[in-house]
Amino acid sequence: MNTETAKGKILVAYFSNTGTTKSVAEKAADILKADVYEIVPEDPYTEADLAYYTNGRADQEQDNPDARPAIAGDALDMTQYDTVLVGYPIWHGQAPRIISTFLESYDFTGKTILPFCTSHSSGIGSSADNLHLLEKDAEWMEGRRFSADYTKEDVEVWLNEMKITPTSAEKIRKFNFETHTVTLNSGYEMPINGLGTYSLHGDECINSVKKALRRGVRLIDTASAYGNEKEVGKAIREAIDELGIKREEIFVITKTYPGNEMKNPEKSIQACIDRLNIGYVDMILLHHPDTNDVKAYKAMEKFVEEGQIRSIGLSNWYVKELKEFLPQVTITPALVQNEIHPYYQENDVIPYIQELGIVVQGWYPLGGRGHTAELLGNKVISAIAQAHEVSPAQVILRWNLQKSVVVIPGSSNPEHIQENMELYNFELTDEEMLQIKALDRNEKHDWY
Ligand SMILES: NC(=O)c1ccc[n+]([C@@H]2O[C@H](COP(=O)([O-])OP(=O)(O)OC[C@H]3O[C@@H](n4cnc5c(N)ncnc54)[C@H](OP(=O)(O)O)[C@@H]3O)[C@@H](O)[C@H]2O)c1
Ligand SMILES: Cc1cc2nc3c(=O)[nH]c(=O)nc-3n(C[C@H](O)[C@H](O)[C@H](O)COP(=O)(O)O)c2cc1C
Repeated sequence: MNTETAKGKILVAYFSNTGTTKSVAEKAADILKADVYEIVPEDPYTEADLAYYTNGRADQEQDNPDARPAIAGDALDMTQYDTVLVGYPIWHGQAPRIISTFLESYDFTGKTILPFCTSHSSGIGSSADNLHLLEKDAEWMEGRRFSADYTKEDVEVWLNEMKITPTSAEKIRKFNFETHTVTLNSGYEMPINGLGTYSLHGDECINSVKKALRRGVRLIDTASAYGNEKEVGKAIREAIDELGIKREEIFVITKTYPGNEMKNPEKSIQACIDRLNIGYVDMILLHHPDTNDVKAYKAMEKFVEEGQIRSIGLSNWYVKELKEFLPQVTITPALVQNEIHPYYQENDVIPYIQELGIVVQGWYPLGGRGHTAELLGNKVISAIAQAHEVSPAQVILRWNLQKSVVVIPGSSNPEHIQENMELYNFELTDEEMLQIKALDRNEKHDWY
């Protein structure tokens, strides 16, 4: 099970004169797909400056705790980084004073710093401890020394041990358009198109879920708040019995609600599992942020450990909420489910979530009840639909998939259910994607 801690965007900053530290830094940056920044002195060190035990420039600076050699070039935009690796050679058991200049030039509050050094024989020892004093508001990780004969594998093993993993575009979970699935950070495979069941109840819910399963839909979204988990579970059990579908082929998402449910999370999560009554549950989400959300999430983590729930995630969490929430939990959410449709695109939120290796799923893909006619009748979408000989709903769903957003349109209409899964025999052009992008109105269709 993957329990990596999200470390946000990473920078590898280093100072190096003879190339040893530079080479470790570049390997680390390559592994992490991180940005690299070389700390270059305004007044470069000559060979004579570096000749130690000669009372040369380097010796003198190391003897003077107040020495702050100036750094050349423009300042960095440090605000964009969450984790900074700081590499330096050991000079007389300590970091060169230019590292102090670097640390004091920026605000590292709330950022994680991972120091590393190279040396002939000295360990990282007190050099890192002394740097902590310069940046008390950063979260310092234990440092590591590399000798000149280290390998790339050594760097890789070290970063894995420190749970520092790539966060750039490389981390985005890629959709497989052959199998119509995505592999979550929990290791489980999830279909990328499914059926939403909000507002489906009783026989209508059972029939819709069964119709969807019969037609090949394998992802079903429900929630304790929808009051239909029993019906969803019944439909799944019946489909398994009647249609020969295996339980493992179906992916069921449910959600636990704020208030009393999150106040008593063990009880309410168990109640979801009991109401569904399909053995394990593939995924459970926190339906909305709440005062007890961290407590409820930790309870979900326990259910994962015990194997009753396979993956966990969040719903209605945006950038600010994620920044506060993620450092408080152990298992990185596998999925975030938010409102996403052409009139509310979340173009800033989606990449942020995806670059954490978390899959994004959109609710109200067709605008939600009361708004579908306007969205499906949109001229731009209708023209694109005509060009591909598909329906406007299919264009919107395909647009989501091409943005690596999982879709769960709600429907009780068999024709719509069928249509909503036929998304793989056409492709929107870059131009069409841009035309839909231009429709964004930042127009939310629900309060959360
Ligand atoms: N996490 C959250 O806070 C949250 C909030 C809201 C929703 N959700 C989830 O997201 C799912 C989707 O949202 P939603 O169902 O409310 O809204 P939606 O999928 O945007 O729209 C559903 C409406 O679209 C119609 N429709 C479906 N397919 C169509 C097609 N191919 N052509 C024309 N009309 C079509 C449906 O009518 P027919 O029945 O006639 O097809 C229904 O009226 C929900 O079911 C729920 O699982 C989550
Ligand atoms: C001024 C100076 C002091 C040094 N002091 C030490 C030391 O105390 N212990 C040690 O093991 N190596 C020491 N070294 C060796 C460097 O730490 C080592 O060669 C390092 O890997 C060089 O990194 P670079 O190639 O990135 O500049 C010193 C080197 C210099 C120039």
